[in-house]
Amino acid sequence: MPSTGAPKPATSRMSASLSGTARVPGDKSISHRALLLGGLSESETRIEGLLEGDDVLRTGRAMEAMGARVRRDGNLWIVNGTGNGALLAPEAPLDFGNSGTGCRLTMGLVGVYDFETAFTGDSSLSRRPMGRVLAPLREMGVQVHAAEGDRLPFSLHGPHTASPISYRVPVASAQVKSAVLLAGLNAPGITTVIEPIMTRDHTERMLTAFGAALAIEQQSDGSRRIALQGRGRLVGQAIQVPSDPSSAAFPLVAALIVPGSDVIIPNVLMNPARTGLILTLQDMGANIEISRQRKTGGEDVADLRVRHSELKGVTVPQERAPAMIDEYPVLAVAAAFSEGVTRMQGLGELRVKESDRLSAVAEGLKLNGVDCEEGDDWLSVTGRPGGKGLGNAAGDEVKTHLDHRIAMSFLVLGLASQHPVTVDDTAMITTSFPQFIDLMRGLGADIEQA
Ligand code: S3P
Repeated sequence: MPSTGAPKPATSRMSASLSGTARVPGDKSISHRALLLGGLSESETRIEGLLEGDDVLRTGRAMEAMGARVRRDGNLWIVNGTGNGALLAPEAPLDFGNSGTGCRLTMGLVGVYDFETAFTGDSSLSRRPMGRVLAPLREMGVQVHAAEGDRLPFSLHGPHTASPISYRVPVASAQVKSAVLLAGLNAPGITTVIEPIMTRDHTERMLTAFGAALAIEQQSDGSRRIALQGRGRLVGQAIQVPSDPSSAAFPLVAALIVPGSDVIIPNVLMNPARTGLILTLQDMGANIEISRQRKTGGEDVADLRVRHSELKGVTVPQERAPAMIDEYPVLAVAAAFSEGVTRMQGLGELRVKESDRLSAVAEGLKLNGVDCEEGDDWLSVTGRPGGKGLGNAAGDEVKTHLDHRIAMSFLVLGLASQHPVTVDDTAMITTSFPQFIDLMRGLGADIEQA
């Protein structure tokens, strides 16, 4: 497990052009939701392209512990659910490892049941704020037994009958929105979530596909209002999971910064709530060809062809942050090779991800000679096209703080830097992108694990 195994450092070095096809694993957000809703629905759900990362597999195990049957059959994952309202009390604590999404969504899903459910996680997850989900659950009648603040480990016990609530999400968070909607599945009446800023909408799309009665309205003040009728029937579905744009981001940025590169990334999820990085890179002058745009299982999907590009710094519009929230670390890497300054703002949420990503990125960039400045909720990076002087000749290690995206971002940095870049650990990359190092090597990246 990422938190207990020995750390696995790795070093990346300036590479010759990257080329080939990068088949990126399934979208993490959609994979979690497929297992959660499959495990809750009656009859069978068949999932193609599920991300077999540690985070997602833990969600599968949690659903098994609550009465679902989850198995792999060739390329498919097959889930036989309990039926809405019929989850069983898990006998042991549900251990979500490094996964905020698995943990927070499951807190909503089962927290409102009239039994005790205990939740644990690794040291990274145990530092992350859970009050943002506990607050609406408490309003619905859930009792929280926590030793310390609103942090893991804790247990939840729902009321005899949960109260449907109307909840305005105070932070732009798809996890909070989703937790409330999933809790609403087991409350009589209508549970309403209002999100002032739109976040990824995979929960809404998938709930609708599984048969939930959901009404979505754009309000005059720009907010989104999602109303869910509780206690409806959910019926198993066939789901195809497209490639994760948040994982595709690594070979994509690598191809942009390594001279001569030409890489194809097929079948990438293009949900507009997830394409902020692509838009930003295009603003920076990136050559990204988008082809075969199509719909797969209710989601937009396309193939990408990415070629090395001369990038220039931009100011990233703050309102774009929710559509690229996981991509700022690797955008900062692209910025390190761009002409001029890239300014990123509205990044407060980065401080409560798998690590404090804002300071982890700034520290790692400085360690590798990148000129950057960190503010409370902003980061600016002054690039050096060509990567001269970047990297760390002494082999000083970037601290990854159990954060997969920090590890992958800095390994990408090293591919176009004059000196090598070393990260202190890569073990936790299995949470979201187990094939990352092999896939990057297959494209020609020089990455060596100690
Ligand atoms: C996710 C939502 C985002 C994102 C995370 C996945 C989801 O978190 O960072 O990787 O699947 O709902 P927040 O809800 O904390 O913004």
